[in-house]
Amino acid sequence: MDDSPPPDARIPRYIAAAEQMKQGQFDLEVPTTPPDEIGRLGTALRDLARALESRYREVQQLERITARINAGLLLDDVLDNVFQDFREVIPYDRIGLALLEENGQQVRARWARSDLPVLKINRNFTQPLAGSSLEVILRTGQPRILNDLPAYLAAKPSSESTRLIVAEGLKSSLTCPLIANGVPIGFIFFSSARPHAYDAAHVDTFRHIAEQLSVIVEKGRLVSEIAVQKTAIEQRNDELRHLNELKNAFLGIAAHDLRSPIGLIQMTAELLLDSETELPREQQTKFTQDILRHTGHMLTLLNDLLDVSQIESGNLSLEETSIDLAALLEEAVKWHALVATPKGTRVQLQPAAPGQVHADPLRLRQVIDNLISNAVKYSPPGSLVRVEMQRFDRGWRIAVKDQGPGLTPADRQRLFQDFARLSARPTGGEKSVGLGLAIVRRIVEAHGGQVGADSEPGQGATFWFTLPDQK
Ligand SMILES: Nc1ncnc2c1ncn2[C@@H]1O[C@H](COP(=O)(O)OP(=O)(O)OP(=O)(O)O)[C@@H](O)[C@H]1O
Ligand SMILES: [Mg+2]
Repeated sequence: MDDSPPPDARIPRYIAAAEQMKQGQFDLEVPTTPPDEIGRLGTALRDLARALESRYREVQQLERITARINAGLLLDDVLDNVFQDFREVIPYDRIGLALLEENGQQVRARWARSDLPVLKINRNFTQPLAGSSLEVILRTGQPRILNDLPAYLAAKPSSESTRLIVAEGLKSSLTCPLIANGVPIGFIFFSSARPHAYDAAHVDTFRHIAEQLSVIVEKGRLVSEIAVQKTAIEQRNDELRHLNELKNAFLGIAAHDLRSPIGLIQMTAELLLDSETELPREQQTKFTQDILRHTGHMLTLLNDLLDVSQIESGNLSLEETSIDLAALLEEAVKWHALVATPKGTRVQLQPAAPGQVHADPLRLRQVIDNLISNAVKYSPPGSLVRVEMQRFDRGWRIAVKDQGPGLTPADRQRLFQDFARLSARPTGGEKSVGLGLAIVRRIVEAHGGQVGADSEPGQGATFWFTLPDQK
């Protein structure tokens, strides 16, 4: 008796099974008996379902991997994800990435992760593309399997990269080209401590995600590059903001500290010229002296402003020569002692052994003048200012000690900044703009030295700077 269903009864079930597969369902119940022609169609359908199922799972897995890789935007994050996730589909103990540089002429190792203890090829490793076996891989777009690296090295001892990889303990490798949007960008190297770890199936797997991975790597590289540029732009912005603040402060100073003396000078000059007011001789002399004093202040102020803006815009060029430091200090001290005489303040130089420094003489004198004039300006009349020079292991240290009010903790915070007028006020009617120490700091730093101040409030201050020996 023939109990098999009539052939036409199996066909509708096959059609239903095909519909199921379309929906991504692969565990099919299809009749495969009796094994006549139609039954064999059922067997073929069941095998197809199994093959499709494994393919489908693989694709899903690769999609999951690429999604995870895609989630790390910076190149290093992308690559860390690659290192974690690829294990599921390609075996390896080490993954390396190299990118093309200099218009595709150089290959530079960009990143590597390994489970082995040594990593010989790192970021600094570069090699020219031309003539290398990598060039062939890129040209053909074909991944390359080397299943016995020590043997390959024996046959090709000139291959530096193979020598290093073998020295890391690796036995086989799969090198894949990265081509993003049709443009070659570099390589990804899978390597294993086992020989013969790779076969055509791994190449096939890589092919499935090659394009997507390449695009992700390229995107990661661009994002990393942009991040670097962003930092540089932010830094430049900060500098520009600072320059802008400085410019505003300059304008404020110009409006105030320059305008009022100019007004005074103009009035005085008009008085001197006025034919109706015949001024006595001493009065004329006094007015002329006033004009000179005001112009002197204005000139100093203008020079300071110009110095700060010149230094800030990176245009401080030093003309360094060898200088007799003791002689330079002696000359400065003599001059300041003279200027301080009306105030009753004494300025003295501690005798010191002669010493040569390598510096710009005019700028060095400017530093010393600023420190001594401050010491005189902020100390009570009749006090003592002492200037010292001392040798230390790598250069000279110059110090100016005074008997003034010293510095408060709040003063220390703002010392050496532009326009920092602090708690000490001039004791003899001198001008104070707050630029001297800021200029001192810039000049000393341009010479490779350091500036500082030691002080207890009420105990006087010691301002010092160092000049390193010439290297
Ligand atoms: N030797 C000192 N002792 C105490 N305070 C000082 C001393 N030197 C400077 N200062 C404080 O630091 C501030 C900044 O000094 P800085 O030399 O930069 O500017 P300034 O003397 O006010 O003006 P200028 O631009 O004319 O030098 C001063 O206003 C003063 O309050
Ligand atoms: Mg000053």
